[in-house]
Amino acid sequence: MKVIVIGASGTIGSAVVTALQGYEVVRVGRSSGDLNADIANPASLQSLFKAVGSFHAVVCAAGDAKFKPLDALSEEDFHFSFNHKLMGQVHVVRIGSQFASPGVSFTLTSGVLAGEPVPGSAAISIVNAGIEAFGRAAALELKDRQIRVNTVSPPWVSETLQAMGQDTSRGLPAATVAKAYLEVVENVSLDGQVVDARSYAKI
Ligand SMILES: NC(=O)c1ccc[n+]([C@@H]2O[C@H](COP(=O)([O-])OP(=O)(O)OC[C@H]3O[C@@H](n4cnc5c(N)ncnc54)[C@H](OP(=O)(O)O)[C@@H]3O)[C@@H](O)[C@H]2O)c1
Repeated sequence: MKVIVIGASGTIGSAVVTALQGYEVVRVGRSSGDLNADIANPASLQSLFKAVGSFHAVVCAAGDAKFKPLDALSEEDFHFSFNHKLMGQVHVVRIGSQFASPGVSFTLTSGVLAGEPVPGSAAISIVNAGIEAFGRAAALELKDRQIRVNTVSPPWVSETLQAMGQDTSRGLPAATVAKAYLEVVENVSLDGQVVDARSYAKI
């Protein structure tokens, strides 16, 4: 089973790669990995999927968005966030599904700030909510082709909080977050779902 992991060198992506033991993993990043692609650039995704050939699943754990107080968020910051984290993942499904066979699964990444905003999350909250809405809608249309689309919603990841010098106790280890991605890849009954990675904390 070949799984394309976009963002494979990242905090979440590298834990997902570890969790995908036994799978053939194609690691993708803009400048890291086995193959390079920028999710914000549709042409580079076309080249990626052409180069990979057949695949069974795509996990996207990539996409930047701006975290700033509302009065510091410029129009450009909003557009950057839309173009990268939101439209980047839309492009992954839109373009990837052109190359997908029945049985393929797409797993996108949002974040709990979609429904649990904090000061500074205005742009990220819109983007995360948009990814979840897109995932549900795309799943409806791709169901006929037996292609699944789901979204994993991670909370703060402990390793990210640690790198930011913040209290890690409110985070979830990347290895735990990765369990959510693994289940979405493997559980064919999950389709059009938003999976909160916190539900894997005690599994
Ligand atoms: N970490 C958290 O606490 C947390 C919590 C909730 C949600 N999330 C979301 O989870 C996703 C991954 O977060 P992370 O913390 O694991 O990120 P990260 O550690 O910064 O890693 C990002 C990964 O994505 C790749 N990447 C970035 N932009 C890309 C693009 N435009 N096209 C292709 N690859 C790209 C990077 O590789 P290259 O540098 O080679 O491109 C890297 O492999 C993000 O969307 C983030 O918003 C994270």
